[in-house]
Amino acid sequence: MTTKTKLIAGNWKMNGSLAGNAALIEILREHIGRPASEVVVCVPAPYLQQVQGLLAGSPIDLGAQDVSAEPQGAFTGEHSAAMLKDFGVRYVIVGHSERRKYHRETDEEVAAKTAAALSHGITPIVCVGETLQQRDAGRTAEVVKRQLAAVIHVNGHCISEIVVAYEPIWAIGTGQTAAPEQAQAVHALLRAQLHHAASEHAAGIRILYGGSMNATNAADLLAQPDIDGGLIGGASLVAPNFLQIIAAAR
Ligand code: 13P
Repeated sequence: MTTKTKLIAGNWKMNGSLAGNAALIEILREHIGRPASEVVVCVPAPYLQQVQGLLAGSPIDLGAQDVSAEPQGAFTGEHSAAMLKDFGVRYVIVGHSERRKYHRETDEEVAAKTAAALSHGITPIVCVGETLQQRDAGRTAEVVKRQLAAVIHVNGHCISEIVVAYEPIWAIGTGQTAAPEQAQAVHALLRAQLHHAASEHAAGIRILYGGSMNATNAADLLAQPDIDGGLIGGASLVAPNFLQIIAAAR
């Protein structure tokens, strides 16, 4: 069992509004107390400034959902790591399966985004995960190992600076969670790969689970030896549910 501080990360995806964000953060602030884990909310880019203000003085960190691999320039619609830094962003999700799918992001692009975040002192939460088809074909290990391998040797940076998130695509937004043992088996594979790459750091790297984590299943998932936190979509939008997940992380 690892003893590192767990990380509970909410991924709001493309949800929120000025009024809704304020209401959600107000309830979180009121009830969060002193969490045993680190907590971050990864919000849509247009709300970074608003949520930065709402979180001031709270134990909740600010996160983003994507970052450009480019430092600046003619890349319409993109936002750079330096811009995220301007708003106090501490974590950024990279390589989420929705970006790999809808924006055709490749492992190479995910690695470049990881490097961009690291070079600005922002911790990337690098997502890996297999489709149901890949799982059924017995290809889970091959797929997640390939995705992790792409970010293991980011130039000039230590693997200990990243957070990994295992998100089986078949469990995202479907209500179908990986069983704790099923998730643990993949987390153990990822841990072994990290160990092979950097044995002195592997135990300290946080590997989050994501995919229909909720107030009911969080404790069992988070009790697994290689599950060091959660990346939570739908349940992070409902304050009592997110608070229950945070309470389950010790
Ligand atoms: P859900 O928790 O809604 O399944 O989403 C998981 C996810 O994709 C978090 O990044």
